Amino acid sequence: EDAERHGFDHYMLKEIHEQPAALERAIRGRVTPDGDVDLEAFPPGCFSDVDDVQIVACGTSYHAALYARQLLAERGVPTQVFSAGEYATTPAPVSEHTLVIAVTQSGETADTLASIRLASERGARTLAVTNVVGSTAARVCDDAVFIRAGPEIGVAATKTFSSQVAVLTLLRERLAEDITGQRGADRERVLRALERLPGDVQQVLDQSSVESLAARYRDRDGHFFIGRGVAFPVALEGALKFKEITYEHAEGFAAGELKHGPLALVTPDTPVFAVFAGQYDDKTLNNVEEVVSRGAPVVGVGSEESTDVAATVDEFLPIPDTHPVAAGVLANVQLQLVSYHVADLLGRSIDKPRNLAKSVTVE
Ligand code: G6P
Repeated sequence: EDAERHGFDHYMLKEIHEQPAALERAIRGRVTPDGDVDLEAFPPGCFSDVDDVQIVACGTSYHAALYARQLLAERGVPTQVFSAGEYATTPAPVSEHTLVIAVTQSGETADTLASIRLASERGARTLAVTNVVGSTAARVCDDAVFIRAGPEIGVAATKTFSSQVAVLTLLRERLAEDITGQRGADRERVLRALERLPGDVQQVLDQSSVESLAARYRDRDGHFFIGRGVAFPVALEGALKFKEITYEHAEGFAAGELKHGPLALVTPDTPVFAVFAGQYDDKTLNNVEEVVSRGAPVVGVGSEESTDVAATVDEFLPIPDTHPVAAGVLANVQLQLVSYHVADLLGRSIDKPRNLAKSVTVE
């Protein structure tokens, strides 16, 4: 086993470090030299008869789905996201012009499979975004796109989230162009940011130093994660990773929701991790002020050029300055490292957290 971990103490850490290579594979050949998206089986126009999109997923894949919803909404594509466990019991109405996308690393999650079977029976078109060629999701859906992340052994998903977001971003460009008849004004910048992303993730991995921060925040009453726009699903994912492997209490919120309840829990003993993706940062900074005035320590994750963020928070975890589409992925890598190091300091079973399974094949 040691040899398979290539010198890393845990598969999770190895997989965090595999993200540049995984992203390279996810993107390779899918962006043409003249700045177009080339998604093999999906030529221009293949989604022209789609009116709306529904995305079903669980766990970390659900957070990638929420990320995709933000991206599709920005391009004017009507999109809903459902936790597959809910969709399987209370499906949303579909038509033959509804595209139901299953985001599932393994392609075997029971709730997700039940959801796509239901959608298919009701006449929707289905598409799997998965890591496993030959998985049930890939076979059951009308079409499949593979994220090419390579095997993920750690129960807590890391590299597959990044690769899902990258592939969903490419898919967004194809879908949005086919459905709205227009290319997004910032499409070229988005594709350039994706091409830079493997190198930018490498920079985060090379320069991140969160061990001392992890030591300071390892034993607190609770840990809150906030963000808006694409930083909202990153906040949810940051909290999920934290609770999965540290067993400490962690919750993620939309930054704007803080004052509608969670703020009652904020004290000097509840660090708040604020995620900034270069979208609506001023609004999130206002929310940070709200928790600072309650005495909570704030860890900000944001562009290395965001001097106003760095000046407001107690601890700053920088990421390369890039398009928000990619910034969320980079911020998530910093949060993966924080969770990993806190869990390591606490001596947790990082690769196989208690009570959790890599693939949940029962509803
Ligand atoms: C389990 C795993 C999670 C994963 C979720 C969805 O709960 O522990 O890490 O995100 O299943 O898995 P999927 O294979 O459908 O992406």
